[in-house]
Parts: sequence; structure tokens; C-alpha cells
Amino acid sequence: DNIDEKLINIDCLTYAGNSDNLKNYESNKHYTFYNNRIGDEKNVSQIFLNEKPRAIINFAAESHVDRSILGPEEFFKTNVMETLSLLTVSKNYVSNLEADKKNKFKFIHISTDEVFGSLSAQEQPFNENNQYKPNSPYAASKAASDHLVRSYFKTYGFPCIISHCSNNYGPYQYPEKLIPLMIINAINSIKLPIYGKGDQIRDWLHVSDHCEAIKTILEKGQVFETYNIGGSNEIKNIDIVKTICDELDALLPHPEGRSYSDFISFVSDRPGHDKRYAIDSTKIQEKLNWRPKISFKKGITDTIKWYLENSEWLHKIKNKNYDGWVNKNYNNR
Ligand code: TYD
Repeated sequence: DNIDEKLINIDCLTYAGNSDNLKNYESNKHYTFYNNRIGDEKNVSQIFLNEKPRAIINFAAESHVDRSILGPEEFFKTNVMETLSLLTVSKNYVSNLEADKKNKFKFIHISTDEVFGSLSAQEQPFNENNQYKPNSPYAASKAASDHLVRSYFKTYGFPCIISHCSNNYGPYQYPEKLIPLMIINAINSIKLPIYGKGDQIRDWLHVSDHCEAIKTILEKGQVFETYNIGGSNEIKNIDIVKTICDELDALLPHPEGRSYSDFISFVSDRPGHDKRYAIDSTKIQEKLNWRPKISFKKGITDTIKWYLENSEWLHKIKNKNYDGWVNKNYNNR
């Protein structure tokens, strides 16, 4: 919240983007928003010339696995080809910087644990040396973009860092991902679609902890390194959904006296569904002194309360072609 140097946000506001999310910053003199795609080389290069960033953080990506299964092309356009554009423009910008600025410059590429594929119950959590084994078109597109970034530092000495984080949750998350989808479906008395048996495991990280990790990498991370960021918080999908239902039963008793867990519905599984993700964050903890601070118990309660208190935000999304409420059953697609 305390921006003490200028922050430039370049975002093309796709279906998952929402200018309301950053309303509080609109009048902040340290913040400037540009409504552009990262692949818009002409405008992005002009923005860099005008704003002279000391670092670039590439958050831009299509990120929902289900959408990538239904339509992979968009994922490769944004995550691969537009990352290539951003790298091209950034490399050109950095090559014209004065020596001291060039030496301090960092390009931080935000990736995902999904590039490492799926773990069995017995396997050790992913560390930075795990082999890439992407299983969904989304993960394949992120793996491809990571390889591009790597090639830029190997071939051109371009100063990049790659971070791999586990599943994020928290306020403002677009309600197509598991946690917000379940909260919103429940409060609308709509089916809670659990893929398969709900026994898949994810390592949940509060978005604020992820942001702190990225800030730490920005300040102390070494270029040409990669860092894994996780919550050390492995939970089965079914347990997440039951926790949400229990919390809602206490916070907002159902008008018909039912338990929200009555709406749980097991639907056909996601094709190629990864069984388990888990992250070993030892490197970032030991080298950069970052660790997650928000317990899942507090994080999930605060997140549920946030969605309950922000019905207007949800209402606007619902009016913007929102299709997350539809019955997510692969058999019906
Ligand atoms: P998701 O939030 O889509 O993240 P990711 O696939 O990147 O891990 O899904 C988290 C887990 O929840 C994943 O195992 C799929 C499962 N899931 C459901 O069972 N039902 C749903 O409606 C959604 C969106 C996800």
C-alpha cells in the first residue's frame, strides 16, 4: 500500500482484469496505469522510454487450466508470443541504459509450480532443480515462456529471474479458480462442482505472501537465478471446499437452514488432472529470508469475509459475461 517509488502498470484488462481492483490507486501520484497488451511492442517500448523503469515484473498471463483445455491458442499467444515481445522490447530498452542502471536492472518473470507436472503422494516437493513436465496446455505455455526467458539470459546475458509459485488465494481473485468459485456458488445456492473425488492436493499461498516474496526478489534476488515460492500448506480440494462450507455456515447461515455442504457435487474429472503440487521454498527462505506469514486458517476466513462484504464487486463481474457459475462438468461441454 505504501508506494514510495513510481509504479507503472501495463494491463490490457482481459475478462479476468478489472479496473475497479485498483480504484484506490487512481489518484496516487506514484501510480500510472496503461491499458495495453504486453505484446504491443510499439507502445510498450514508448512507455519504457518515457517511464524508465529500474525493473520489470511480468505477471501477464492466461492462467486458468480449464480454459486452456477448452482453448489452448489464447494461452500460447499471450504467455509465449507476447512474452517474447516483452522480452524483445525490454532487452532493447536495457541495452540503451547507462552502465550503472544496466547493472542493477532486473526482469522478473512470474511462473508457476505447474511447469513441474504432478507429484505422487510419496515424492518430495518441487525444488528449483526439478525437471519440467507440464501436463496441461496452460502449464505447457508457461513452461515455454520460462524457456524463452532462460534463453534470453543464456544467449544475451539479459538479467532475468524466474519465480515459481504455488496456488494463490485471497481477495480480488476472479471467481473461476477453486476458492472464489466455491464461495460464490455456495452463497448463490448453486452446485459446488468437485472434479473427480476431490482428492487432489494443492499447496495454498495467500496472495499477500506471494507479493511479499516478489518484493523480496526485486530487492535481494540474484539475476540468472530461479526461486520457488510456496505456502508449505498442502490441502486436498475436498477439504478446502468443506472448510469453506463450514465457515459459511457460521458466518452466513443459509436462508433455508441448510448446510452449504449440501451443494457439494462430484462431477467428471478434469482431463490430465494433476494429482499433487507441493513447493520446497528452502532456497528463498535461506538465501533471501522470505517466509509465508499468513496462516491458512486466518487467510481463508478473511478471504470468505472479503467476498461476502464485496457483493458490488461481484455484481459487476456477473454483468461482464461471467461464465464461472455454469455447471463445470466436463461431460456437459
Ligand atoms: P484451480 O483453482 O483451477 O487451480 P489449478 O488447476 O491451477 O491448481 O483448481 C484447484 C484445484 O481444484 C484443482 O485440483 C482443480 C480443482 N477444481 C475443482 O474440483 N472444481 C472446480 O470447479 C475448480 C475450478 C477447480
